[in-house]
Amino acid sequence: MRSRRLTRRGFCAGIAASGIAVARPARAAGPELLSTEVTELQLAPEGYGPTQAWTYDGQLPGPVLRQPQGSRLVRRLENRLPVPTSIHWHGIRIDNAMDGVAGLTQDPVPPGGQFDYAFDLPDAGTYWYHAHTNSSEQVTRGLAGALIVDEATPPDIDRDEVLLLSDWLLDPETGAFQEPFDHPMLRSHGGRFGNLIGTNGRFNFSSEVRRHERIRLRLINGATARIFGLRLDGLTGWTVGLDGMPLLQPEQVTSELVLAPAQRIDLIVDVTAGVGETAALLRIDDDESGRPQALFPVVGASTATRRPAPSALPPNPGMELPNLTGARLLDMPMAGGAMGGLRSARFEGADLGFRDLVQRGQFWSLAGQVGMAERPFASLSRGETVRMKITNDTAFPHAMHLHGMHFREVRQDGGFGPMRDTVLSLPDQPLDIAFTADNPGKWLFHCHMLNHAASGMTTWIEVA
Ligand code: C2O
Ligand code: CU
Repeated sequence: MRSRRLTRRGFCAGIAASGIAVARPARAAGPELLSTEVTELQLAPEGYGPTQAWTYDGQLPGPVLRQPQGSRLVRRLENRLPVPTSIHWHGIRIDNAMDGVAGLTQDPVPPGGQFDYAFDLPDAGTYWYHAHTNSSEQVTRGLAGALIVDEATPPDIDRDEVLLLSDWLLDPETGAFQEPFDHPMLRSHGGRFGNLIGTNGRFNFSSEVRRHERIRLRLINGATARIFGLRLDGLTGWTVGLDGMPLLQPEQVTSELVLAPAQRIDLIVDVTAGVGETAALLRIDDDESGRPQALFPVVGASTATRRPAPSALPPNPGMELPNLTGARLLDMPMAGGAMGGLRSARFEGADLGFRDLVQRGQFWSLAGQVGMAERPFASLSRGETVRMKITNDTAFPHAMHLHGMHFREVRQDGGFGPMRDTVLSLPDQPLDIAFTADNPGKWLFHCHMLNHAASGMTTWIEVA
């Protein structure tokens, strides 16, 4: 496989890589459209070729969808791609029929077809939407965007910035996405890492700020494999929410922020850098001194002076701690991948040795099963408490995501972690998670390293 790095040539050229405006055809009355289309963009720095992306409404990332808590989101997906697609609303505690999982909750929408999504937004916070049909290719090609649900009483801030972090593996000769999207090397190792890394579709994202301004930063990891390690520079900040859900108390940011694929962190930051300086969100996962992930040039001072620490965001409904007495215990050993020592697992109704699995492009198992089985991993009664032990018997980290419900980590001391929809599982570090199965339907549980999800790490549960 070729994997040449893009050089830093042209890094400072200041190229707008976001979507180019596309004239919309006039349309008949009906729900507001969200269309998937093929769009040519300048994603790479000037001097490199353009990239044919797959976008929502011609934009990469897709348009920020923003609505008040408790409102109903209504969008008609119009598929102008040459392939079927569907949209998943990641982290929304949603009506199962609207979850967007092709083959489980809906049929994929064929080219030229439409599908009406309409669902309530019970929780405020930072969410996102992305393709959930052949997602290891479709999300990689650009089908992802932010979904922001506003609190009835917003926090006291001066500004709100959505930062959707991503990376792109481009062929430096042509600017095209490097293919194939699902090479066995990507599937069996850490997944697909880009040679160009950026924020909101730009490799050089920058936004002007004022000293002492208080900004809510909504970080979303839209990459398909990369775990971002981040640090604040010229900013003092507090974490106020994770995966959409508010923390009980804001937590001052004093060390590295870890953002696994699909996870979100809501920060409230104060600009402490001086006028003329540049504050930044730095990426420190492969260079400790930090590379700019988002730059914030300080162009003036706001009237405000330093403020006291922010207060907590208002809680979302249904954030009570699960009651573990009599909880259903589930075991979720994860195995496989390169250097994983997986001997055999069940795939499409048969027990297969690792070699046979590899021949079928499969590398990973969840609780002994490779990919979706006819029957769910667990059938739960509505309202039941579940406690799932996740053991990572592989050589790689995995970002495990549950659809439809948030869960909490049960810590070793018996305490509970914050509510999340995606948890980072590290090799040899077992996790114990618990949730109340209060949302009926068929829900996926899968790795959000999307090459892993496509090669074994996808299973489902049913709540009835
Ligand atoms: Cu973010 Cu199954 O998805
Ligand atoms: Cu994984």
